[in-house]
Amino acid sequence: MKTIAALSSLLLLGATSVSAAPVVERQTQAPTEMDITAFSANTLPHGTAAFISFNIAIPNTSLSTTCSYTDHSSVSILPNVSLRPCDDPAVEWQFNQDPSLPGTSGQYRVVVTYAYDGAKKVAGFHEWPATDFPLEDFGSTTATFYRGEPDFVISNLS
Ligand SMILES: *[C@@H]1O[C@H](CO)[C@@H](O)[C@H](O)[C@H]1NC(C)=O
Ligand SMILES: *[C@@H]1O[C@H](CO)[C@@H](O)[C@H](O)[C@H]1NC(C)=O
Repeated sequence: MKTIAALSSLLLLGATSVSAAPVVERQTQAPTEMDITAFSANTLPHGTAAFISFNIAIPNTSLSTTCSYTDHSSVSILPNVSLRPCDDPAVEWQFNQDPSLPGTSGQYRVVVTYAYDGAKKVAGFHEWPATDFPLEDFGSTTATFYRGEPDFVISNLS
């Protein structure tokens, strides 16, 4: 009953304050972490395409969005993806692999930026060893699959 009463007073409030601030809250303090879930990345075993996607949420804010990339030109290996907006354009991301030195494969990295409270912006990144993105053999063809953890936290924000 208490909940219903609170809810209906909220609804009343909503109905009577039409010109109030937007419902979606943006925080004014710098966030300290970004939570990534369902990170996936792969190319196609028999075809030319690449897919990268993940969800991102910023704790203590209403921000929760999906970031994704698709192309129909990549063969076997994942492309470097330049900075681009997520579904919520307050968040932007890029993905790249470092150059490979002789005898090693460059590590992979995702960089995420979040714009909040007007012109403020924080950025953080997550890096993986190349072994988390194995090139797998499909007989006449190879394709890359992300085999690392789908969920991780980015806490190196600055
Ligand atoms: C979220 O807010 C709670 C309560 O204010 C605080 O204890 C917690 O550290 C915050 N978490 C993050 C990730 O900022
Ligand atoms: C991504 O960029 C790095 C560094 O410039 C380069 O070594 C690598 O070959 C690029 N990857 C692709 C798929 O183009």
